[in-house]
Amino acid sequence: MPKKFYITTAIAYPNGPPHQGHALEIIQADALARFYKLLGKDVWFQTGTDEHGTKNWQTAKKQGKDVIDFLDANVKVFKDLYKLLNVNYDNFIRTTDEKTHYPGAIKLGEALVKAGDIYKKKYKGMYCTGCEAFKTEKELVDKKCPEHPTREIEAIEEENYFFKLSKYKDQVIDIIKRNKYKVVPEIRKNEILSWLKQAKDISFSRPKTSLPWGIPVPGDPSQIMYVWCDALSNYITGVGYGREEDEFKKHWPADIHVIGKDILRFHAAFWPAMLISGKVPLPKELFVHGWVLAKGGAKMSKSTGNVIEPFDQIKIFGVDPYRFYILNSMPIDGDGEYSEDLVRERINTELVGNFSNFCYRVLSFTEKNYKSEIKDSDPTPMVTEITAKFDDIKKSYEEYDFKKVIEGILAVSALGNQYFQQKEPWKNLETSHEVLGTCVNIVKNLSILLQPIIPEAAEKLQKQLKLKKLTWKDLNFDLKNHKIGKPEILFQRIK
Ligand code: MSP
Repeated sequence: MPKKFYITTAIAYPNGPPHQGHALEIIQADALARFYKLLGKDVWFQTGTDEHGTKNWQTAKKQGKDVIDFLDANVKVFKDLYKLLNVNYDNFIRTTDEKTHYPGAIKLGEALVKAGDIYKKKYKGMYCTGCEAFKTEKELVDKKCPEHPTREIEAIEEENYFFKLSKYKDQVIDIIKRNKYKVVPEIRKNEILSWLKQAKDISFSRPKTSLPWGIPVPGDPSQIMYVWCDALSNYITGVGYGREEDEFKKHWPADIHVIGKDILRFHAAFWPAMLISGKVPLPKELFVHGWVLAKGGAKMSKSTGNVIEPFDQIKIFGVDPYRFYILNSMPIDGDGEYSEDLVRERINTELVGNFSNFCYRVLSFTEKNYKSEIKDSDPTPMVTEITAKFDDIKKSYEEYDFKKVIEGILAVSALGNQYFQQKEPWKNLETSHEVLGTCVNIVKNLSILLQPIIPEAAEKLQKQLKLKKLTWKDLNFDLKNHKIGKPEILFQRIK
């Protein structure tokens, strides 16, 4: 059996409907899954929901709802959004699933106990329900968590099980330094390496009396597994750990975990330490994205009233333009800005003005003047210039730099536009057949390069070209003596 190429997202808290941060992460992961499929990998893509913990429990109670009914309703909204976004995941895991998730979460817990890495102690600390994490005095601003300033910090004094993170910190530092577990981008790698130096043991359970909603600690049902210990194990339980060992071996280790910058510590410190302790191989790469912010860089929050909902935006702009903007707006090592003005500007100049117009111009010219047929290509130096860009774009995809990916692809389209304009094929149709041969090849290449970003338009374009299911190997200028189909405009200007 071929080894799977396994990609995951963080599992979201379904304590409300999904926001644009969730949309960003799932679109990025979906684009990666599609890119690696184009390269011929046997991709397995998992996402899901993190359903235990204080936050989900309290929100359901506040709304007077049965917890599982409340979660079911929100999970449906997440799935609806992912469907609308044209996201093709292979597995959706829910941590409340006692058949798929519990056996593996318990098995990992037991392995940590067996390794002698779990101990009980009385603990006094400050808990942020927003982060589902204990905070140190230093991490608070005005006695509030800077990530969740509207939530009260809970002072907690109770008996917890602890995990010996400190025992593994040097090993984890070494693994991350040597890229054995590669943390991308560099800024996040440095951030976690510096945090790990002072890492202490971490609380790994809560008494059932203060948190009834979760998986009981194996051997001590008076305690509930800490939600992060439960949640992180989804990456292995979802592919069979603790229930289908052959299945598990086929998928694990994960090739890529995609997460946001606020949960770096859990994924680049706790998770590898837990896996080493449990004698489970480590994942290969961790890609950490930034924040989707409002225009000007403000955090979107309900209290400020500047939240922009993904469902509304897709309705206004369409799925592909939304995916295009979201991926294009995130710098690899920073945050992205979102506003309807910014989306409109980007779509009109690039998606419409550059890409879509070029494709339509080339295909309709071929239809009108050459009975939809191309023969050979023009051996112009521009072909070498564009061919060289294919590898750069591949590298940018592999480095998770979607902004750079899109810039690279738009440069290909711009070169095509420039070439068409310079050659002025309308002036001499008889000698210009090869010019159109070259341009149709560029359109074909664009339909491959952009497939992970705007899958619906890429498929439409290949249909117009009378081609199907092209892969990365089809990136070339070899298409000749070919009849294309009916050209149609892919994207229209947005007012
Ligand atoms: N349940 C945990 C993750 C457990 S993974 C074992 C969690 N859930 S979350 O719903 O709060 O966040 C899910 C993902 O969305 C995380 O990767 C988080 O970083 C990301 N984002 C949340 N808000 C975001 C933005 N405003 N912008 C971009 N991504 C952000 O954390």
